[in-house]
Amino acid sequence: MSGIENLYVTRPMLPPLADLLPLLEGIWSRRVLTNGGPLHEAFEAQLADDLGVSGVSLVSNATLGLILALRQCTPGSQVITSPFSFVATTHAIRWAGLEPVFADIDPQTMTLDPIAAAHAITPNTGGILPVHCYGRPCDVTGLSALAAAHDLRLIYDAAHAFGAQHFGRPLASFGDLSVLSFHATKVMNTFEGGAIICHDLETKRSLDALRNNGIVDEVEVTEIGLNAKMSELSAAVGLVELPYVRCWLEARKQVDQTYRELLASVPGIDCPPLPDGLDSNFAYFPILVSADYPLSRDELYLRLRRRGIYTRRYFFPLISNMAPYKHLPSAAPENLPHANEVAARVLCLPIYPDLSLDDLRRVTDSLAEFG
Ligand SMILES: Cc1ncc(COP(=O)(O)O)c(C=O)c1O
Repeated sequence: MSGIENLYVTRPMLPPLADLLPLLEGIWSRRVLTNGGPLHEAFEAQLADDLGVSGVSLVSNATLGLILALRQCTPGSQVITSPFSFVATTHAIRWAGLEPVFADIDPQTMTLDPIAAAHAITPNTGGILPVHCYGRPCDVTGLSALAAAHDLRLIYDAAHAFGAQHFGRPLASFGDLSVLSFHATKVMNTFEGGAIICHDLETKRSLDALRNNGIVDEVEVTEIGLNAKMSELSAAVGLVELPYVRCWLEARKQVDQTYRELLASVPGIDCPPLPDGLDSNFAYFPILVSADYPLSRDELYLRLRRRGIYTRRYFFPLISNMAPYKHLPSAAPENLPHANEVAARVLCLPIYPDLSLDDLRRVTDSLAEFG
């Protein structure tokens, strides 16, 4: 394969360096590097405006954002979550001192099934942590009714959801709290970064203190916080990127549509349709390999790798099958049949705004050729 570049599942986008330089000059002259500098405050305000919410607390990454958001649950309580996610979702529950309880996904939406979640509720349940997996919406109506009926905190892992709209409303604005990631692999990045979305200023004040070691002012520390602050440098990148995101999402949409057209004629490769009402951010392009495709999902993954096409098995293995969690009663495969099935079939293909048609065809031609 010499001379042919490797293709990866994603490739971070960056704004023109010329747009960033004036902001960097400002940082260099002010020497305010963190702790809520002017660019941090501007980025936070701009996000709150774009998302139509009253509270945004920027954080240094979504993992820490989830840990802080989960502090809203009763200490030591159980939190119901999806095993079909990146491992940070469940790790955050444990780091917040809470007990994860897995419930199955709906095989259509690939997100937490409210009926399965309802079955998992006990007198010790304090919250629900569903994941808008691939930027596809959870059943926000069903989950919100469930949380309200049992007085549970509803906290969304919205790490994949930036830029997605659900029936005209930003997906990240649902729930009591919701946590975005601006990691390098996301549709918008601040290299590392994230944001907690909330809906009242009192919660925002508490989150702002929590992300700064619980410090309220020079003499007052009210809570056991940690250092989860976003730096001024990351905020500068975020501010400069925001105007480009629409255009990047459009380019992703083209990639998504072209994949669907070219893969329609490949038997055994299913492209899960986008749900009604979703204005997608096209963050991922998952396919499901079915039994009538000649290769297993893992054989396909390896054959593509040998051609320099690095797909990812998001999300395999399930979190519930990982060493720290597989002993939990709720992790039993019988409890999670849909999650286990999807995890065994799924493969995420390369998708990013500047994926060329030739590169995309390299992927689809390989899938057709092996098929
Ligand atoms: C579903 C999900 N949750 C949480 C995270 C953690 O995000 P971060 O890398 O910003 O800590 C990720 C990261 O990829 C993720 O995919």
